Amino acid sequence: MRVRNPKRRLTVYAAVAMTGALALSGCGANEDEGSNNDKSEVEVFSWWTGPGEADGLKAMQADFEKKNPGTKFTNAAIAGGSGTQAKAVLASRLQNNKPPDSFQGHAGAELLDYIKAGQIEPLDDFFKQNNLNSVYPKQLLDQITYKGHIYSVPVNIHRSNVLWYNPEILEDAGVDGPPTSIAEFITALKAVDAETGKVPLSLGAQWTADHLLENVLLGSLGTDAYNALWEPGADWGGAAVTKALNEFAEIMKYTTMEAASTDWQGAAKAVVDDKAAFNIMGDWAYGYFVGAAPNGLGKKLDTDFKYAPAPGTEGTYMWLSDSFTLPKGAPHRGGALAWLKEVSSKEGQDLFNPKKGSIPARTDADKSLYKGYLQYAFERWNSPDIKLAGSFWHGVTANNKWHTDIDTAVGLFLQNKDVGKLQEALVNAAENSGQ
Ligand code: GAL
Repeated sequence: MRVRNPKRRLTVYAAVAMTGALALSGCGANEDEGSNNDKSEVEVFSWWTGPGEADGLKAMQADFEKKNPGTKFTNAAIAGGSGTQAKAVLASRLQNNKPPDSFQGHAGAELLDYIKAGQIEPLDDFFKQNNLNSVYPKQLLDQITYKGHIYSVPVNIHRSNVLWYNPEILEDAGVDGPPTSIAEFITALKAVDAETGKVPLSLGAQWTADHLLENVLLGSLGTDAYNALWEPGADWGGAAVTKALNEFAEIMKYTTMEAASTDWQGAAKAVVDDKAAFNIMGDWAYGYFVGAAPNGLGKKLDTDFKYAPAPGTEGTYMWLSDSFTLPKGAPHRGGALAWLKEVSSKEGQDLFNPKKGSIPARTDADKSLYKGYLQYAFERWNSPDIKLAGSFWHGVTANNKWHTDIDTAVGLFLQNKDVGKLQEALVNAAENSGQ
C-alpha cells in the first residue's frame, strides 16, 4: 500500500494496512480503567543486552524508577542481535498465556502479526491521554495502526543502510572514499582483498547476511523497486532481482563471518580494530563504537571509523522503529502503562537514543543531544527530500513468517552458493507469506 506523508511529501510503502482514522475514542488501554491496574511491578522484554543498547535501556529504566518509585522494574532482555533468540522465547510465552508486561516489537508488518493473533491491546486512549497523536510522524503512526487503532509506542528510528568503514584500510587499498554504487563496492572489496590482507567485509551471525541482503537489494534495485518487492504480487522472479542476487553472491565472496557467537558486535568491532575494511550494519553499531569503555568501545568517529550510506542507497533512509506494546493479559497492566508512558516521553527518548545509536521517534526531541553520526541521521530523517524504504529484516515490510523463510533461504545459500536456488526460494517465500 502506498502511504503519502502530506507534511514531508514523502512516499512510504506500508506493510500495515491503515483503514481508518488514527484516533478513535473509547478504545483500548485507559490509565484509569481496566481489569488489572497492578503497578507494583513491570517486566520489560527486549533483546537489548549489548553495549549501547543495554546502556540506553538502563538510562530509561533509571528515569522510570525515579518517576515510579513504587514499581519494581524487571529487565527481561534476552541476548541475540535483531531478536533472533528473544522472538522465539516471546512466541512461546504468548502462546502459553504468560506474556511479559511489555515487549519490544518492530513497527510495521512484525507488529501486525501480534495484532492479528489478538496478542496485544489497542492503545488509542493511551495516545489520547498523553497527547501522542501529534508528536509522532504520520508515516510512523501508519505503521502502528491497524483498522483505525493504534497498537504500540515507538521509542526510536534506526537506520539500517549504513556502511561503516576503516579509513586507513581504504587508503592502504588505494580506495578513494566510500563506494557509492554496488559496482564501486565490488571494486573496492577486490582492492582491499588484493592490496591489504585485511577482511574486505565483515559479517557475524547468520542474520547479518540477511541484513546485508536487504542493503544489496536496495542498492541494486533502487528505492521504488525495493519497496515494490513487499507489495502483493511483487516480481521476485525477474531479471532485476537476479542481477541483485548475483551481486549479493559476488559481495559474499569477500566476507568473513566472525564467530556467530559474537553476533553483530564481533563483525562491527572488526572495522574499528583495523581487521576489516567494511561492515554494513544498522546504526546501533554507532552506540557500540562510541559508547564509553568498558561497555562501549570508546572509539572516535572519523579517526577510528567513518560512515556512509550503504552503496547505491544515498538519498534513502532504510528505516525501522523499536516500539513497545501492551500484551493482552499483562500481569501488571498498570506497570506496563507507566512504562509505555516513559517510552513515549520526550525525556525518556532523549535519554535512551543518544546511547542506543538511534534518533527519537518523537518529532519534538532535543536536537542538540544528537552529535556526530546521530546529527547526520537526525538531519537526513527530517530532510524533505529523503526517500524512505522499510527494513524487511527488522520488521517493517515482512511479517514473521516471510522473515523466517527468507532467513532459511539465505542460510541454504551460505552452504550451496546457488543464486538460482536462492531466487526460487525467495519467490516461494513471497508467495507463501500470507501477507
Ligand atoms: C534490531 C533492533 C535494534 C537492535 C538491533 C540489533 O532489530 O531494532 O534495536 O537491537 O536489532 O540487535
